[in-house]
Amino acid sequence: MTYEQVYQAWKSDPTGFWAKAAEDIDWYEKWDSVLDESQAPLYRWFTGAKVNTCYNALDRHVENGRADQLALIYDSPVTKSLRQFTYRELRDEVAKLAGVIRSMGVEKGDRVIIYMPMIPEAAMAMLACARIGAVHSVVFGGFAANELATRINDSKPKAILSASCGIEPSRIIEYKPLLDAAIELAEHKPKKCLIYQRPQSTASMIEGRDLDWYDAIYTAKAVDCIPVAATDPLYILYTSGTTGVPKGVVRDNGGHLVALNWSMDNIFGVKAGDVYWAASDVGWVVGHSYIVYAPLFKGCTSIMYEGKPVGTPDAGAFWRVIEQHKVNVLFTAPTAFRAIRREDPQSKLLGEYNLKHFRALFLAGERCDPDTLLWAQEKLGVPVIDHWWQTETGWPICANPLGIEQLPIKPGSSAKPMPGYTVAVLDPAGKPVANDEIGSIVVKLPLPPGALPTLWQNDERYIESYLSRFKGYYLTADAGFLDDDGYLHIMSRTDDIINVAGHRLSTGGMEQVLAAHSAVAECAVVGIHDDIKGEVPVGLLVLNTDFAGDKADVVREVVQMVREQIGPVAAFKKAAIVAKLPKTRSGKILRRTIKAIAEHTPYKMPATIDDTSALNDVESAMSELGYL
Ligand code: COA
Ligand code: AMP
Repeated sequence: MTYEQVYQAWKSDPTGFWAKAAEDIDWYEKWDSVLDESQAPLYRWFTGAKVNTCYNALDRHVENGRADQLALIYDSPVTKSLRQFTYRELRDEVAKLAGVIRSMGVEKGDRVIIYMPMIPEAAMAMLACARIGAVHSVVFGGFAANELATRINDSKPKAILSASCGIEPSRIIEYKPLLDAAIELAEHKPKKCLIYQRPQSTASMIEGRDLDWYDAIYTAKAVDCIPVAATDPLYILYTSGTTGVPKGVVRDNGGHLVALNWSMDNIFGVKAGDVYWAASDVGWVVGHSYIVYAPLFKGCTSIMYEGKPVGTPDAGAFWRVIEQHKVNVLFTAPTAFRAIRREDPQSKLLGEYNLKHFRALFLAGERCDPDTLLWAQEKLGVPVIDHWWQTETGWPICANPLGIEQLPIKPGSSAKPMPGYTVAVLDPAGKPVANDEIGSIVVKLPLPPGALPTLWQNDERYIESYLSRFKGYYLTADAGFLDDDGYLHIMSRTDDIINVAGHRLSTGGMEQVLAAHSAVAECAVVGIHDDIKGEVPVGLLVLNTDFAGDKADVVREVVQMVREQIGPVAAFKKAAIVAKLPKTRSGKILRRTIKAIAEHTPYKMPATIDDTSALNDVESAMSELGYL
């Protein structure tokens, strides 16, 4: 079948399409209805069905002949170690860990926060929660205590699973003090914490609350998978919203299983037994969907890589992993390839490795500049696929579905909508714009299986944030255009989210931190183009008129505040003082104009600008920061 035929098959019978895809999943009980529209615009998939996500990821493969196949390979250049788990070994580890979690008082529906580095135990923790119907919420290790505390307060976990440390190439990140500080800050207090002591650092334990991972596993009883409703939450993943309060994206069990499993064959062209590597982090949606869940649903071998594309030890790191583990498909963010290209533009290191098993590279998480895509394609000699999706959708909205048919590759475009998604580009009045015209990108409701049914205990915010702008559509908050061939081009966000090295961050959240500095009267944070990270946040500060101290101190302090309150991952390193910020007469800060000045892109003088001299201030500040 061609892409067009598959897409039309879905369009003409969406529920039949997903019911057929659901045949690949093992259910305890089948659904009463494939799509439940009774609470529209809140839709539910596979209502009435009973299933277990962990069973589908592990046990069924053990029972069906893959017991001795590798399920997970942990490759860690930062610790110079390698660990491998067959499906049987991983199932057994997970079953014991599930026993430990249950013995900590966690029952079906209870939340468990996982704050861990890229070690196999993080994946085990997710799967163990799924096994007993607990709802996990993984928090990325690069976030600071404050961000963790916000997530603790919102998800109210009964238990937290963590480790003594994470390892960055240049330093050891002590996780436990961050965890302790977060619990101290949070109003909600989890009853128990399970701590994995890594050899690189030993965390001090709080008696009565903290348990040692090894001790607990040693005496643990393995527990079996329990049936949960297909509509029960599998996990909550917090992602940046337009305010400092992150959104708790909910993923259910049934729809997620069906959609992710379908995506492996059809989008990534991957079959059971293949080796699949998503070079991301379990703290992001890419890590959830394509390090842990989808490859295991499909019966693949998944790679978990604790390292960077460059510097661990060099720009040949990815090629080494691909050769050593016979990787068939790699998924990462364009920023990783920009970093490799900068270090090794002629890709000399590539010649040292044999990549004969390698079939395709998938890039997502941020806009992929055509240059990077073409470079990767030329050097690797395999299709390089830009595909577009979001934490909210959990799997690609638009892609080039290699497993169905390879469509022509157009650098700069993430290709065509996948079954499940009807994509439209609208003007502010909600009318579709002409081809090649930029507008607001929306997806027609209902969203497909696997996409978020709601935000954690907040239907109202879900409806308000995503469903209220254009009736009948989900607002992606991305802007872009469709071309004459029906290819989608994503150009920018329509809100204050920026993508820094593929990490999604809110500039509004950073502004809140800057504004809390006692010397700061007003501020703006804007994402400015960066050759490697895509964008980096830059702050402009207006100081209180009575400020008499050293301005350089203020800059240093706000940089430190963002690092401490949001985390190093925000990569907030640049700020400058201005006398005033450019604003409209109604007081709106002209962030786009600030960005255009720093990026040397032409901009129209906003008709409503209050005081044009503020633009001179911005120019001086950007010049001071090295942009002009
Ligand atoms: N725990 C603690 N700190 C972390 C962390 C973690 N899990 N991950 C990153 N950090 C820190 C880094 O040490 C760095 O701190 P620094 O300011 O002291 O140097 C900061 O957060 C920014 O990290 P990162 O975004 O990784 O930038 P980098 O400069 O260290 O590396 C790249 C740049 C391009 C090599 C890197 O961003 C990369 O590999 N990106 C791949 C893309 C990716 O994984 N995207 C995820 C979505 S698919
Ligand atoms: P996240 O939720 O972290 O996956 O970030 C989602 C956002 O990243 C999207 O809304 C886009 O703004 C951006 N994004 C992801 N993939 C792409 C892509 N292929 N092209 C352009 N932008 C992308």
